Amino acid sequence: MNVPFAPPHAAGAARRPPGPKGLPFLGNLLEFSRDVLRYYGEWAREYGDIFAFSLRGWPVVLLNNSDYAEYVLVRNHRNFVKFPFFFRHVRAIFGQGLLTSEGAIWHRQRRLAAPAFHAERLKRYGEATVRYTERMLADWRPAEARDVQADMMALTLRIAAKALFDTDVEKDVAEIGKAFGAVVEEIAVRFRRPFRIPDAVPTPGNIRYMRGVRRIDRLVSEIIRGRRDQGDDRGDLLSILMLARDDEGRPMSDGQLRDEVITLLLAGHETTALALGWTWYRLSRIAMSTLGSPPSCAMSSATARRR
Ligand code: HEM
Repeated sequence: MNVPFAPPHAAGAARRPPGPKGLPFLGNLLEFSRDVLRYYGEWAREYGDIFAFSLRGWPVVLLNNSDYAEYVLVRNHRNFVKFPFFFRHVRAIFGQGLLTSEGAIWHRQRRLAAPAFHAERLKRYGEATVRYTERMLADWRPAEARDVQADMMALTLRIAAKALFDTDVEKDVAEIGKAFGAVVEEIAVRFRRPFRIPDAVPTPGNIRYMRGVRRIDRLVSEIIRGRRDQGDDRGDLLSILMLARDDEGRPMSDGQLRDEVITLLLAGHETTALALGWTWYRLSRIAMSTLGSPPSCAMSSATARRR
């Protein structure tokens, strides 16, 4: 179904959707940093599927409907640019990868990376996803309490590392996971801070962040170098990116490869782990309201698998 949606410029003037009033200068940053989910929910209930707010002078329009998202990301993406309020915080880790790049670089990279997402490839990643999930579930025991968010992070990172590098070396995966943990923690703090502190300022958060970035850099560069030395096609995402050639027959530079690999690794595992974590949470709430007592999600899932 297509929801009728007139973008602000369609009316000829810059119209702004309704939304919550904010404080002078800070706008709605305090609510955003205190409890973003609670306020998004309240604002959506009050203002509907499209509402506007402000983050310290940056106007934000939130689209809470998949047709609107399709309008922006698919049908009219040429009319929109990425939002620097967020992306300037993450340049050191993502560089010029697909998530943060714009214009000609983004277009070239998008075309080079496309074969990695063809249906046949996705089927293979799907098989690996099932295999790793079954392996994880085999370790779960009835009635044991588990930190499902940590389990989901570990699971999706293993799957992403397998799809990207064809590696299931636990040592690599654990080291990448630890370094990403430090980086993601600092990124979350940055998004909530009312002012920007450049990476070069040695705050404790920046030090941890840059240490994490250097560690990931080192690990990913080692993997890329190793693969260049071997020169074989392993059928994984890294091989596809390394073998890709643009219209003039040029391959990606090592720096560009590094940016794409880190982008896919982080964008591909953190998002899915969070979505799964919230899924478990919702399931447990539903089970609790139906059964009247806190269920063990781990137990019900692991038991169900063995049946
Ligand atoms: C529940 C899971 C996911 C969510 C909620 C999610 C969300 C998003 C969103 C909102 C964007 C648009 C960002 C922007 O331009 O402002 C995006 C872009 C992107 N995501 Fe995801 N994502 C998910 C899973 C994945 C996975 C599994 C991968 C990789 C395997 C991935 C890789 C990317 C990349 C490369 C981009 C940039 C695309 C481009 O600009 O060409 N994401 N994602």
